[in-house]
Amino acid sequence: MAKIKAFLFDLDGVLVSTEHNHFIAWQRCAHSLGIAFTEKENELLKGVSRVDSLRKILALGSKEIDQATFESLLVSKNEFYLESIQNLSQSNLLPGVLDLLNEAKRRGILLGVGSSSKNALFILEKLQILSYFSVVIDGNGVTDPKPHPEVFLNGAEALKVDPSECFVFEDAASGIAAAKAGGFMAVGVGNPNISSAADIYFNDLTEFRLDIYA
Ligand code: BG6
Ligand code: MG
Repeated sequence: MAKIKAFLFDLDGVLVSTEHNHFIAWQRCAHSLGIAFTEKENELLKGVSRVDSLRKILALGSKEIDQATFESLLVSKNEFYLESIQNLSQSNLLPGVLDLLNEAKRRGILLGVGSSSKNALFILEKLQILSYFSVVIDGNGVTDPKPHPEVFLNGAEALKVDPSECFVFEDAASGIAAAKAGGFMAVGVGNPNISSAADIYFNDLTEFRLDIYA
């Protein structure tokens, strides 16, 4: 294995527990369209961009809507989601995150975020962890969203590391696929549904032993 020089983290579901807020907001949207939507269907949306998520919900219900309704559903989903995370703070970081960021920094590992979310910077600021990251690639900065590897390839390029020298931490099937397609080590975390797709898997980041890998 090449020496590990960098870590790229997904945001929602890896650093912070906002994945549940996305679920509740999408469920409300799906129900408003008369489409059944449970945790099972939500798995298909994890890591997926806002636009592609709504497309998937419509496909689930075999439903077609006009462009204006599509756009207004995106706006109302995001407003509801943002309202639900308005009190987000460092206490919402997932277990082991802060310790891992500190330990990685201490060892000189470069850190970045690779997220599909257009709200990533806002959330990282609320969590007070933005300063840990040398690069943040979010949903505003990619042409092809996950499962395409662009978000992580852009992150590695910005950090001047080869994908083989970089771990990607992900909780979503689309993100694991993106990491693998880009030639990264795909570290699955916090979602048993992706445990076999990931190269290595941990229930949460407290289980990740940095001294073994870096
Ligand atoms: C991903 C989440 O990080 O971002 C998805 O896993 C979400 O659930 C996507 O839909 C887009 O997020 P946002 O904040 O731009 O609507
Ligand atoms: Mg995620």
